[in-house]
Amino acid sequence: MKIFVTGGAGFIGGNFVHWLRATHPEDDVLCYDALTYAGNMETLADLAGDAHFRFVKGDITDAAAVKKAFAEFGPDAVVNFAAESHVDRSITDPGLFLRTNVLGTGVLLDACRACGGVRFHQVSTDEVYGDLPLDRPDLFFTEDTPLHTSSPYSASKAAADLLVQSYWRTYKLPVTISRCSNNYGPWHFPEKLIPLVITRALNDETIPVYGKGENVRDWLFVTDHCRAIDAIVRRGRLGEVYNVGGHAERANIDVVKTVLTALGKPHSLIRFVADRPGHDRRYAIDAGKLQRELGWSPTVRFDEGIAATVRWYLDNEPWWRHIMGGEYQDYYRRMYAGREST
Ligand code: NAD
Ligand code: TYD
Repeated sequence: MKIFVTGGAGFIGGNFVHWLRATHPEDDVLCYDALTYAGNMETLADLAGDAHFRFVKGDITDAAAVKKAFAEFGPDAVVNFAAESHVDRSITDPGLFLRTNVLGTGVLLDACRACGGVRFHQVSTDEVYGDLPLDRPDLFFTEDTPLHTSSPYSASKAAADLLVQSYWRTYKLPVTISRCSNNYGPWHFPEKLIPLVITRALNDETIPVYGKGENVRDWLFVTDHCRAIDAIVRRGRLGEVYNVGGHAERANIDVVKTVLTALGKPHSLIRFVADRPGHDRRYAIDAGKLQRELGWSPTVRFDEGIAATVRWYLDNEPWWRHIMGGEYQDYYRRMYAGREST
């Protein structure tokens, strides 16, 4: 197969490219990525010289560039990871999220149509379902849960999902969508909770926890997500949505304490800071459909995954230290300034 992976220089896309090269050595993989602040060629450095791998720097909203890359590569399938992915950034710059996440997805869908109906997989998120109450542990998101978004990020991902489904219904473009819970693991940009805690703790810096740290996320080790996407791309039913999640629900404060303990750092680094506006309370995924239809289930337990992730950041310090230069420091100051008062 020839697989066109957008956003493959980012966290999950980068893990997926490595997953493909390791598990399907006969496949050709093209990574198409604009290399925004979140894209990093160092994540793909070990693939330089791999005859089955190519990289093209390009923006998914640039229809001419996408058309050219398609013509040169001739993909059998497109897996779309490319997105603006951070909720906090979507609150300060929603327009960029509409452009990349909605318009960019539209450009890719049109390119797939123009090439005779290329198989298209959209990497979406459980955040399109909104949130669940904290006091109803019996409730989970299923594929039938109505879309009910909270942030400009989740609204843009939901809009993209609807566009993808419209291309199935209207044009019979062969599509699938996966909606996954929070991922963690290697190559995770340190603006997101777990890598932010690891990298700041290793510098003996304070750890900002929003609100009271009670919000719950359902954590999945990134290779389990990669395996799910791979199964859906190869064997999933066309036109379908599949939820992906590992029943590893944790309150943020417990996640932060677990990571600090794994690093041997004191819990006294924790600071409760002003909450994120519109902060979703709880995400929890029912991945029963994926389990029943494709035999997928998570393989990495949360404690094992955290230990592996911590080890990876300890062993790959240059990777994250290169990121944490001036631009990252400016971002951190802008995003967290004046929030430590609560
Ligand atoms: P990320 O921010 O780490 O990476 C995004 C990648 O997309 C980067 O390499 C960036 O350069 C690239 N990109 C951004 N805009 C682009 C554009 N206009 N054209 C081409 N490339 C562009 O994101 P991630 O955490 O790896 O998430 C990947 C996908 O998975 C996203 O679609 C996200 O919505 C979804 N998702 C993420 C999570 C999670 O926990 N991180 C969970 C569920 C779903
Ligand atoms: P994040 O990693 O941004 O993922 P998402 O918002 O997509 O779930 O955040 C995970 C949780 O951690 C979320 O409830 C917000 C919280 N959080 C903090 O408490 N402090 C932080 O500095 C960050 C980045 C997130």
